[in-house]
Amino acid sequence: MIVVSGIQPTGNLHLGNYLGAIRNWVKMQDDMGSDRKCLFFLADLHAISLPHDPAQLRDNTLEMTAALVACGLDPARCVLFNQAQVPAHAELQWLLMGTARMGWLNRMTQWKDKAGKNREGQSVALFGYPVLQAADVLLYQATHVPVGEDQKQHLELARDIAQKFNNDFASEEDPVFTLPEPFIPPAAARIMSLRDGSKKMSKSDVSDMSRINLTDDADTMAQKVKKAKTDPEPLPSELDGLEGRPEALNLVSIYAALAGTTPEAVLAEFGGQGFGAFKPALAEQLVSVLGPIRDRFVELKDDREQLDAILVRGASQARELGTPTLDAAYDALGLVRASGS
Ligand code: TYM
Repeated sequence: MIVVSGIQPTGNLHLGNYLGAIRNWVKMQDDMGSDRKCLFFLADLHAISLPHDPAQLRDNTLEMTAALVACGLDPARCVLFNQAQVPAHAELQWLLMGTARMGWLNRMTQWKDKAGKNREGQSVALFGYPVLQAADVLLYQATHVPVGEDQKQHLELARDIAQKFNNDFASEEDPVFTLPEPFIPPAAARIMSLRDGSKKMSKSDVSDMSRINLTDDADTMAQKVKKAKTDPEPLPSELDGLEGRPEALNLVSIYAALAGTTPEAVLAEFGGQGFGAFKPALAEQLVSVLGPIRDRFVELKDDREQLDAILVRGASQARELGTPTLDAAYDALGLVRASGS
């Protein structure tokens, strides 16, 4: 079992990232036996597909590393690194560019959302973004990729690319790439904005009130929950009663994910009560789960030397782990490289 996943170091880690992905990364690392390898990385190469400030990207990469360690990733038990220190990601992306089809990329909903009506004005990197994501996982022969629901389509594309490359350039008995499986949590796979239950919680939302950041203090979290959009009805006692009430469903799902229970159990407890009673209970859950993470993050975030050392060590391990597959991909394509490159 080879587990690989990444996160863009743009802005803060938020509750959606934590419940949808990072919490599962930590679980997979903790359950790891000798037959398992876990690699987690900062997708800094992906972050240049949209306009960005170089100094801020550098800072964010270290901050996000601190946030991941604060969440429970242990660089002694997983390989933690940033893409930019492992050139094989960019190299393999180029090798896969010959296999990925324009039509496949054109269908990506994230491309459509991010480009909006201005496709002509977007960077080529934004269009080719999912091919780099495919390279990220195929490079290590990933079997499991823990992600939130929004990344499912990108992983299906990675499988399509792997399959076509294997068909075109390898034999069935000796494929170059393993087909990766997305590993999406059954609950909390899509946490929605606190301001609009039809939009996912996101780093790029202009309103900070729309998300809970891992860096928010207890008062800020409580304020955000208090101001979260809801409706005037009390909570129902059964899940069916949340149909057509996306904001209420989102808050109940968040509570359940934090408390390690189901939305049904939350409704059994709070059914019939209004948000005046439910919101303070939710804020309490948030503070009890995220508070300790935030404290560890504050301790770690200014220790640039330690964070740099973590990434240097992780990158050196990742470079070594990726070499056989990169070599095999060059070879399959008939590309002759200088020896030792
Ligand atoms: P990114 O940086 O947007 O998000 C990191 C992880 O958090 C999950 N996530 C959510 N889950 C539930 N609810 C939400 N509101 C929410 N928002 C984000 C994402 O699904 C993701 O798992 N393209 C990727 C980064 C990437 C990657 C990869 C992931 C690059 N290469 C290879 C997996 C494998 C991204 O932008 O995620």
